[in-house]
Amino acid sequence: MISIRDISKEFDGVRALDKVTLSVMKGETFGVIGPNGAGKTTLIRILTGQITPSGGEILLDGEPVNPIESRYRLRVGLVPQEPALYGRLTARENLVLLARLYGKEEKKISSKVDDLLDLAGLEEHAARQARFYSRGMKQRLSLVMGLVHEPELIYMDEPTSGLDPEARSALWELILHLAGEGRSIFITTHNMEEADHICSRLAILVDGSLKEEGTPTEIKGLLGTDRIELQLLHDRTADLDALCRRLDLSWKSEGDKIVVAGVELPDRIPDIVSALAGSIRNFHYREVTLEDAFLRFMREAEE
Ligand SMILES: Nc1ncnc2c1ncn2[C@@H]1O[C@H](COP(=O)(O)OP(=O)(O)O)[C@@H](O)[C@H]1O
Ligand SMILES: [Mg+2]
Repeated sequence: MISIRDISKEFDGVRALDKVTLSVMKGETFGVIGPNGAGKTTLIRILTGQITPSGGEILLDGEPVNPIESRYRLRVGLVPQEPALYGRLTARENLVLLARLYGKEEKKISSKVDDLLDLAGLEEHAARQARFYSRGMKQRLSLVMGLVHEPELIYMDEPTSGLDPEARSALWELILHLAGEGRSIFITTHNMEEADHICSRLAILVDGSLKEEGTPTEIKGLLGTDRIELQLLHDRTADLDALCRRLDLSWKSEGDKIVVAGVELPDRIPDIVSALAGSIRNFHYREVTLEDAFLRFMREAEE
């Protein structure tokens, strides 16, 4: 639906984005993951027309577009990093105001606002001023404010940062619900668990450059492997060497643990267990996480 080509941005000679190219397909949840200062917010600000890039172009359905044009703006929504709400207005008033600004028909506003309050789980709090809401409630209101004009694609800039686990999982449910309705989602995050849970495709952004792109599974596979962590009662170095040679695995000591890694590891479990029979004190199969993959990626980038 939306592509960007070679988008760069310089602030006072400092390069915040360097030739970023990516596409967001209809109905997918595309995540940009990266540490603080990577350029995530800058990218979203460019994609929502708040700042202009130093170079590159944005395409809507394959046609170059300026993101301040209404044919673009009416199809996209934004949930900014900091909720933009009127604190002295209630949730309902915030939504009604926005619906009027978008020029929605007055007789349709009330039921639309009810639907959005329901979606955000804020019906019971709809008559309270937004400044008294918890951070999670503000974030849920902010999210549905991005939906008032029923955009096909919604940009979300670290929507769960600073939320406690319960508020975060409520927001995840809301995001997955929107994805289930077929909306495209473009989300930035520095939370790997979140990226893995929500996104159908991911790109890693570091120092303004896109480094890797793929499904969460592809990125995990690219940058890390599952491992078995063992604690042994006896020294079995010779048996481990022989086993790993035979099954094309690798092993190393990490503290008081032995770590065995390799491809198709689950299929090798019976062999590993029988080769070390009588010496296993503790056996732990650990699937690679996106966080492992990301940390390894950052370490290799630094080296
Ligand atoms: N308005 C600005 N003026 C100068 N530098 C900026 C401005 N906005 C962002 N930057 C710089 O651009 C880089 C990327 O920032 P940002 O996009 O906010 O990263 P992220 O959202 O990934 O944490 C940082 O080095 C930041 O200091
Ligand atoms: Mg940011």
